[in-house]
Amino acid sequence: MKRIAVIPGDGIGIDVTRESLKVLKRINELFGKELEFVEFDWGADRYLRERVALPEGALEMLRKDFDAILFGAIGDPRIPDNKHAAQILLAMRFGLDLYANVRPVQLFHEKLCPLKGVTPRDVNFTVIRENTEGAYVNAGGVFKQGTPDEIATQVEVHTRKGVERVIEYAFEYARRHGKTKVCMSDKSNVMAFAGDLWQRSFKEVAARYPGIQTNHLYIDALALMVIRQPKDFQVVVTNNMFGDIVTDLAAALQGGLGMAASGNINPNGVSLFEPVHGSSPPLAGRNLANPMGSILTAGMMLEHLGMAEAARRIEDAVIACVNEGKMTRDVGGTLGTREVGDAIAGTL
Ligand code: IPM
Ligand code: MN
Repeated sequence: MKRIAVIPGDGIGIDVTRESLKVLKRINELFGKELEFVEFDWGADRYLRERVALPEGALEMLRKDFDAILFGAIGDPRIPDNKHAAQILLAMRFGLDLYANVRPVQLFHEKLCPLKGVTPRDVNFTVIRENTEGAYVNAGGVFKQGTPDEIATQVEVHTRKGVERVIEYAFEYARRHGKTKVCMSDKSNVMAFAGDLWQRSFKEVAARYPGIQTNHLYIDALALMVIRQPKDFQVVVTNNMFGDIVTDLAAALQGGLGMAASGNINPNGVSLFEPVHGSSPPLAGRNLANPMGSILTAGMMLEHLGMAEAARRIEDAVIACVNEGKMTRDVGGTLGTREVGDAIAGTL
């Protein structure tokens, strides 16, 4: 039995996670009650009501009592600085040491790609985004705030340990998935200190994987190349902020944010799975959000939990629904969130 902590969060996170649970419950029927779910209402409503983002002892409980976490999305216009997002999602990424953010970029049908003549054979790579440091540590400060002499600094933190382990994860991921190339991307032509650490770490780790080809691209060049020549990429490893930006860009190749899945992985602990998209307040509660990203994310979670066959079945069911046009409007379909969830669960 695997225990799953379910955190729908805010906005369409709630809509899409409901459909993922529908699909996972169908998996339970088909595979013999392997999964148990416990739902948590951490998000904007609770935060506004009780001023509590992540309750006392939450991280310890997740670590001890659960095999995986299924997350929806976080962000709410009533909390303009999104403080609760930092206190929930980023706190879990940091506190549970979820250091590899694995974001597959896979095109399921030509009709989903905004580029001419690009087929599923051309778009099949994975971005491994460092997930616990870089620009996300919120280091820095302000001075003379509100005056004409105001100063703000925002400091990035890159540690030898943090850089090396995520690069190593990228090579291990490549090996496990039969990929033969790893590309590291940074901005070492400008950010010399962090760049040097990434460059040296990459060379050292690469030397331990003689069977895997390597290359390097500056992040601006990579942004061009993933659009122009997506076929060249198999595994990309990059820092937290660059990974954030490039995975939104890459999601466009798959049909948009509605199609993109991710796993926040700690190889030695509990991991968290979430669609790449945000909470999209304008779509929330209107049966409009695309649940495929979340459902594919649930599939990634099952694969991580050793249920490879169930994971494959989920992906196949999504592909079948894409082929039959059983999709939401953002990807050219006519169905609602619930109907797409029903179609995928039904196909299973
Ligand atoms: C993501 C999101 C988050 C991030 C936000 C919600 C903090 O954009 O998971 O990509 O920047 O990492
Ligand atoms: Mn993002």
